[in-house]
Amino acid sequence: MSERVRITDVAPRDGLQNEPGRVATRDKASLVRLLIRSGVDEIEVSSFVSPKWIPQLGDAGELLAMLAGDKPAGMVFSALVPNERGLDAALAVNERAGARLIDKVSVFTAASETFSEKNTNATIAQTIERFRPVIARANGAGLRVRGYVSCVIACPFEGEIPPARVADVSARLLDLGIDELDLGDTIGQGAPDSIEAMLIDVLERTNLAPSTRDGDPSLTLHLHDTFGRASSYVERALELGVRSFDGAAGGLGGCPYASTAQRRAPGNIATEALVDVVTASGYTTGVDLDALREAASFARTLSAPTEPTPGDAP
Ligand code: HMG
Ligand code: MG
Repeated sequence: MSERVRITDVAPRDGLQNEPGRVATRDKASLVRLLIRSGVDEIEVSSFVSPKWIPQLGDAGELLAMLAGDKPAGMVFSALVPNERGLDAALAVNERAGARLIDKVSVFTAASETFSEKNTNATIAQTIERFRPVIARANGAGLRVRGYVSCVIACPFEGEIPPARVADVSARLLDLGIDELDLGDTIGQGAPDSIEAMLIDVLERTNLAPSTRDGDPSLTLHLHDTFGRASSYVERALELGVRSFDGAAGGLGGCPYASTAQRRAPGNIATEALVDVVTASGYTTGVDLDALREAASFARTLSAPTEPTPGDAP
């Protein structure tokens, strides 16, 4: 029997956080419901970040309240929390729902100091200190914690990032007690060889076993697909034992703080392309591709067309 690969769809969060226009909360709820029907393992529903920084996701609490009756057993809902204030908001959602609507919270930092400052107004060390109480309290409340490291291959401001720096930040997050490390190629600059070199350094330094245990992942890869090459990184990562990936239905997305004057932040690997490559590589997922394509078509209607930017060609 083929081995199962875990799929998280981040379209409602990463996919919509960089939209120039406002997406109605009821449309976000419709997207999440379509993703539920597609059978993905996890949906990153939104972010409890400052609405001054990311106004597009300022309706996180309202959106989750709308979805209270829709979450099937076994489905994981997650949300980003940058600090204790964000965690408080996530815990309040569960309290109001009288159930665990949010199962997992995600803290996020970077392997690049400049990106960290631009994204969270804090150095990497300051973000780690912020996470200490967040992780302890989230674990105490029975929530799993994902820890994102951005810019694991390159930074839009600093250029190439050495794998040792990614390994160092990863080790610090794992020491704090995160359950899952999520490595982000934020601007899609990887190649199969650079992804492999980075993964080998991280796995050696952290002693992390990359596979999933009891369905819960210890390591996830989060790829943005600037040059349409992300599928080849997935193939290589599968060879190295990675069994959990993020994608965004329709290939939406990008972190606004990864945009530069020359280039708008690139979208995530489309979840439908991700499932295709995982399946073609001989693994299974729980995803119904027809239902996922329906979610992807709907997701694309929520997103403004992106203007091609100079230098976007491979
Ligand atoms: P700051 O300005 O340094 O913080 O922002 P502050 O403590 O001075 O707060 C500023 C204001 O925000 C205050 O409001 C706070 O109360 C409020 P005021 O008093 O001025 O009215 N505030 C909050 N409001 C709601 N929820 C909160 C919260 N915290 C403070 N949790 C902060 C620091 C971290 C808050 C800010 O920088 C922030 O929210 N950044 C979020 C950036 C973000 O969401 N980026 C995108 C996600 S990361 C990503 O996309 C990469 C990823 O996909 C992986 C990859 O691709 O690599 C994950
Ligand atoms: Mg991202």
